[in-house]
Amino acid sequence: MVLERLLGLFGRSSESFSTSAIEKDFDGPLIRMDEVSKVFGSGKVETPALQGVDLKVERGEFVAVNGPSGSGKSTLLSIAGLLETPTAGTYHLNGRDVMSLSTRERSSARNREVGFIFQSFNLIGDLTVAENVELPLSYQGLAADERRERVTAALERFDIASEDKKYPSQLSGGHQQRVAVARAVVGRPNVLLADEPTGNLNSTQAKAVIDMLVELNGEGATILLVTHDPRWQGVATRSVELLDGRLV
Ligand SMILES: Nc1ncnc2c1ncn2[C@@H]1O[C@H](COP(=O)(O)OP(=O)(O)OP(=O)(O)O)[C@@H](O)[C@H]1O
Ligand SMILES: [Mg+2]
Repeated sequence: MVLERLLGLFGRSSESFSTSAIEKDFDGPLIRMDEVSKVFGSGKVETPALQGVDLKVERGEFVAVNGPSGSGKSTLLSIAGLLETPTAGTYHLNGRDVMSLSTRERSSARNREVGFIFQSFNLIGDLTVAENVELPLSYQGLAADERRERVTAALERFDIASEDKKYPSQLSGGHQQRVAVARAVVGRPNVLLADEPTGNLNSTQAKAVIDMLVELNGEGATILLVTHDPRWQGVATRSVELLDGRLV
């Protein structure tokens, strides 16, 4: 079964990581990018997706990332969330220089520090709702009963407790995104990254997801939100704007 396999593969490696006093005590910017650039491809088909981006995000901020299509918003979030590595520049996440991490350390840091919410939900189709939400905890070395408690609390919080044994394809888009939000926060990450999280939702479902983000930010969560929907421009405490891969 997929969950057990993932548990076996990653269960141990993350434990040594989560005890670092440096990160827990770090009170500087949660996100600090200096002169970050990202070029995709090589040779004749190089695409500069980000160019010399300096960005600081403090704990508790709710930052809207704006800009036209192709301006680098998703690339910025991917780098912030350790899904992509900058081609140039430096990135400190929660005080740690993440440029020098091994692949395994990056996975571990990503799992512990970041919760993602995507437009397309990105749930795992052959895991149930409860198993999807539990996934980030599988890597954290928590006891089974602690995992179950946290999953139950997250499912209840986002009103999806009754869906726990269903598979993602059996849920509406709105409920799938609730599952994704539950999965994003269950591991208590330091930062939530939401890339057009309402893009596939109707307006009622979208408002519910935005309300969840606002509430989480009210409780101290640090959030980066990419959205094209002008209705949600006001929810962030600060906006940054990308144009052709540069912050303007
Ligand atoms: N994996 C990739 N390989 C090659 N080029 C890429 C890749 N990801 C992004 N790009 C390119 O980098 C640039 C920035 O893309 P990005 O997806 O970050 O923009 P965006 O602001 O999120 O756009 P949208 O609003 O359409 O989602 C674009 O030119 C895009 O084509
Ligand atoms: Mg994008």
